Amino acid sequence: MTNILGISAFYHDSAASMIVNGDITAAAQEERFTRIKHDANFPTNAIKYCLNENNLSLRETDYVVFYEKPFLKFERILETYVATAPKSFRSFAVAIPLWIREKLFQKNLLINQLKEIDNKFSSRKIMFSEHHFSHAASAFYPSPFEEAIILTIDGVGEWATTTVSIGKKNDIKIIKEINFPHSLGLLYSAFTYYL
Ligand SMILES: [Fe+2]
Repeated sequence: MTNILGISAFYHDSAASMIVNGDITAAAQEERFTRIKHDANFPTNAIKYCLNENNLSLRETDYVVFYEKPFLKFERILETYVATAPKSFRSFAVAIPLWIREKLFQKNLLINQLKEIDNKFSSRKIMFSEHHFSHAASAFYPSPFEEAIILTIDGVGEWATTTVSIGKKNDIKIIKEINFPHSLGLLYSAFTYYL
């Protein structure tokens, strides 16, 4: 039996899900427990719910997977500030201390929060997936298709904003991507923000 706990946190709509032997057996958003709309905090309640539904403790999970790679994302943010300097210095000065504290040390933050749920949890079980790969997997694996073309269009993840992948059985390969700053999702966001 292989069981995997998936976590999304620290951005918007934090959530957890559990996969046991390839099937999704539980999934929940943190806001359902805290009653805070779009709650972005670490999803302790959602994780406990997923574990309880499966009669598992955290130490019994085989892997805990975080939905994106914080270091790659940090690299994009730094390079963007460098490319737009000195105009961007003010927002740089505000954002970077926050990034260093919260994002760059996200792995430690994850470990600490998980150990609070179960102090015997081993941090070697934590893995990081790429943002668009996570989106593609969540669309393809629960679908009825053995083979499919997968399209993801987002604001931005680490670098990718749009990807095309081919899914075959249990394998997904990204074959094309559009990278930041070119982003249909961010254009959409800019307009809705303006409105
Ligand atoms: Fe996304």
